[in-house]
Amino acid sequence: MCGIFGCILKEGDAAPIVHDALKRLEYRGYDSVGEATIHDNKLFIKKDQGKIEEVHALHNLDNLPGRIAIGHTRWATHGAPSMRNAHPHIDCNGQIAVVHNGIIENFSELKKDLEEHGHLFQSKTDSEVVPHLIEEKLKGGLTFLEALRETAKHLEGAFSLAVISVMEPNKIFCIRKESPLIVGIAKNATYCASDIPAIRPLTDKAVTIENGELVVLEDEGYKIWRIADWSRISRNPKIIPWSPEMAEKQGYPHFMLKEIHEQPPSLRNTLRLQEKYLDLMTAFLDRAKDVFLVACGTSYNACLAASYMFSKLALLATHPVIASEFIEQQGRAINIDSTILAVSQSGETADTLSAVEYARLRAATVLGLTNVIGSTLTRISRVYICQQSGPEIGVAATKTFTAQLSVLAQLAFRLAEKRGKVSHEEIEQLEEKLIQIPDIAEIVIQNQKKKIEQIAKKYYSKQCFFFLGRGISSATALEGRLKLLEIAYVPAIAFPAGESKHGPLSLVEKGFPVVFVCPKDENHKTSVGNIMELKARGASIIAIIEEGDEEIKNIADDYIEIVKGVPEVLSPIVYVIPLQFFAYYTVVHRGLDPDRPRNLAKSVTVK
Ligand code: F6R
Repeated sequence: MCGIFGCILKEGDAAPIVHDALKRLEYRGYDSVGEATIHDNKLFIKKDQGKIEEVHALHNLDNLPGRIAIGHTRWATHGAPSMRNAHPHIDCNGQIAVVHNGIIENFSELKKDLEEHGHLFQSKTDSEVVPHLIEEKLKGGLTFLEALRETAKHLEGAFSLAVISVMEPNKIFCIRKESPLIVGIAKNATYCASDIPAIRPLTDKAVTIENGELVVLEDEGYKIWRIADWSRISRNPKIIPWSPEMAEKQGYPHFMLKEIHEQPPSLRNTLRLQEKYLDLMTAFLDRAKDVFLVACGTSYNACLAASYMFSKLALLATHPVIASEFIEQQGRAINIDSTILAVSQSGETADTLSAVEYARLRAATVLGLTNVIGSTLTRISRVYICQQSGPEIGVAATKTFTAQLSVLAQLAFRLAEKRGKVSHEEIEQLEEKLIQIPDIAEIVIQNQKKKIEQIAKKYYSKQCFFFLGRGISSATALEGRLKLLEIAYVPAIAFPAGESKHGPLSLVEKGFPVVFVCPKDENHKTSVGNIMELKARGASIIAIIEEGDEEIKNIADDYIEIVKGVPEVLSPIVYVIPLQFFAYYTVVHRGLDPDRPRNLAKSVTVK
């Protein structure tokens, strides 16, 4: 996730306006920043690695001439944060500048082809193919607009682009496929941006650009075309109903709620990872004698779920280990044959990094899964994968957890296939299902959130909760418990449901709330038995079940239904969503701030 912005002023310098707008987009990315302007038929560019104000202190982002400008704030997906990888990117002749948000999936093929045609690339990004491709199309004698249209047809993936060129010095060209793009209209200016927060203080009139559209901004306003059939689209601006403050959270009262809703697009991004890194990591996992899945907090819960995926699909036993215990628990068993897959959203968690450093000293292979390219974990891993969730601002991890699960599932699928442990057909079916998961997540979010809010209202003042599940759902339960506990300050206990009779059952009395994650999998029958035992002792059961599971509906006090047909190994990705909402609404009913739980930080860089 990155933020793009563009601006055409009737008069005055655009650079300071771009700089300010990028600050309002910083929540979309903040590892690099850059601006390009056009003045006197020349392009002027400033860009560097670092947060906006750090780059501004070094380069003065306001000091660029010209009334037309584009800008970018980056969250790296391809190529570590660096000056070269920062946007805007230019063609070989320095006549075209491009900013891009999204992922260009076929960039390797395009880059190879362009290099064969003599193009020289400056960066390691996927985005740089765009100015070179436009340049290449122009060589064939097309107009700038035609070249852009042809370029758009060759790009696969998700992207929104803003392009300026000395060949068309009074215009900004934008293209949208999936990644968001809006146009803002003011009296003396026209803007384009990834999101409403960027333009909201400048205007309250916006036009949403739809998938597959190209828009040209000029002094007189804007023109939209549908790329596929080159038909002109007429669309009037609408009034933005949000105040500038509301716009930052896209109208949601809290970042956590916004990020829960961002899970469908964030899961779609995980399906666009570069195959070669998934394959490389799979090859290392395949060769390993012992595999340790090392992480803290929510990332540990993802590892726990992954251990079920690896054993069920690839018949590979892995050891999920809480990072702060890794050296004590496993340290002496680590050697050259060990592989450590460290999972860390931030890539900076001190306990995870200490475990990794220790493993490296013992010559083990280190693999990393993180959301932050350029983080310490990416620098010390033999192979790393970036989950591409974009920044997460709420302290409680939500969209990054489900994205971790999606990447880990993809690794498990590949490993299963490589090891020949599961039939090709079965893997194909699972892959098909994984592709549907973002849509299923969307349905759960839209259909169930009201009901979960009501359930949270009923239970929010309870003193203690159980979160239970069997099999892979015990990892889902653990994550649901962490969410509630960390943001609502409600003591909660999670354990595999089979453990109830070995101690925890003694806590249960009339009205004791138990959240039971119970998909219709191999464990269903036993789970029903566990629910009956709890009910017999007076527990109130809140069950997360598959749609139409009449057996549990009849015994549970409250239930949330999940769309049918989610395979067991993928179930945590969807079944955790009601638990995230449950924690969120409990916090709201308790009058607390879910985004800033006391005593906690987003990135824990001390041991
Ligand atoms: C919980 C949460 C934390 C983190 C943990 C590890 O919502 O966010 O438990 O999961 O601090 O952080 P990363 O994944 O950055 O290593």
